[in-house]
Amino acid sequence: MKGKRIITAIIALVLVVGTIYTVPLTKTSAAKKVKISAESFDLNPGAVRTLTVSGTSQSVKWSTSNSKVVSIKKNGNKATITAKKKGNATITAKVGKTKLQCKVKVSGKKVLIAYFSRSGNSKKVAQYIQKQIGGDMVQIKTKKAYPSDYEKCTEQAEKELEDDIRPEITTKVKNFDKYDEVVIGYPIWWGMAPRAVCTFVEQYNWEGKTLITYCTSASSGVGDSAAEIGRLCKGAKRTKAFSAYDDEILNSSLKKRIDKWLKNIKA
Ligand SMILES: Cc1cc2nc3c(=O)[nH]c(=O)nc-3n(C[C@H](O)[C@H](O)[C@H](O)COP(=O)(O)O)c2cc1C
Repeated sequence: MKGKRIITAIIALVLVVGTIYTVPLTKTSAAKKVKISAESFDLNPGAVRTLTVSGTSQSVKWSTSNSKVVSIKKNGNKATITAKKKGNATITAKVGKTKLQCKVKVSGKKVLIAYFSRSGNSKKVAQYIQKQIGGDMVQIKTKKAYPSDYEKCTEQAEKELEDDIRPEITTKVKNFDKYDEVVIGYPIWWGMAPRAVCTFVEQYNWEGKTLITYCTSASSGVGDSAAEIGRLCKGAKRTKAFSAYDDEILNSSLKKRIDKWLKNIKA
């Protein structure tokens, strides 16, 4: 009887120890599996993505099936993919005998990113958006520069908003008609978009275009500003506006929020 109990105890001990050691071992071998960071994505021409191969210390050989559609800049286990023109391409990462692939579809969608920026925040966001979705970029510039003195600038901006004036701008987009999606970015001035942004959007025919808006601000957020821009872009399909705040420009959590917003954009 005593002998039976000892055997049962030994079996239990073996099972417990076995479980403890098998779990971490399985995890370690799974982590070592060679992987590519994405197996497919859709891009607009001009958009940039990074692909990474993990789980190996061996060298990675990168190639594209169509260099007219996407170009690759190789950097060890990472590769920067830039979408060039409409079409499909397969990116291959060869690690020893293992072949990992990512299918890239480049759409023919034409994107314009137009932004106003006095102190650079909205510009930084515009540049990040361009990296993600591609497209052409233009800065909305006034004929007469705003005062470099912050107080003076806020006084002028307040007056312009009160009188709802349209400052003259020097920015003119040729072939605005060719764009399918237009991103309008601006700082919040007294709760709204600078009046120069209104001057810009009112010049064009927005029929059938998708309007994407974002703003940067110290704390106010988008407020009624995007709704106003939406009203001025008659005929455009509006999407959910995005707010970035000064203290997060351009940290990794803002980048993640922008990525999520862009992914979920629905006209
Ligand atoms: C004239 C003026 C008015 C502003 N009004 C507001 C405001 O009402 N609410 C707010 O949160 N920030 C306000 N700000 C701060 C800017 O929105 C913020 O710093 C923005 O990120 C600046 O963007 P930029 O660097 O692209 O010009 C104002 C700034 C200026 C110059």
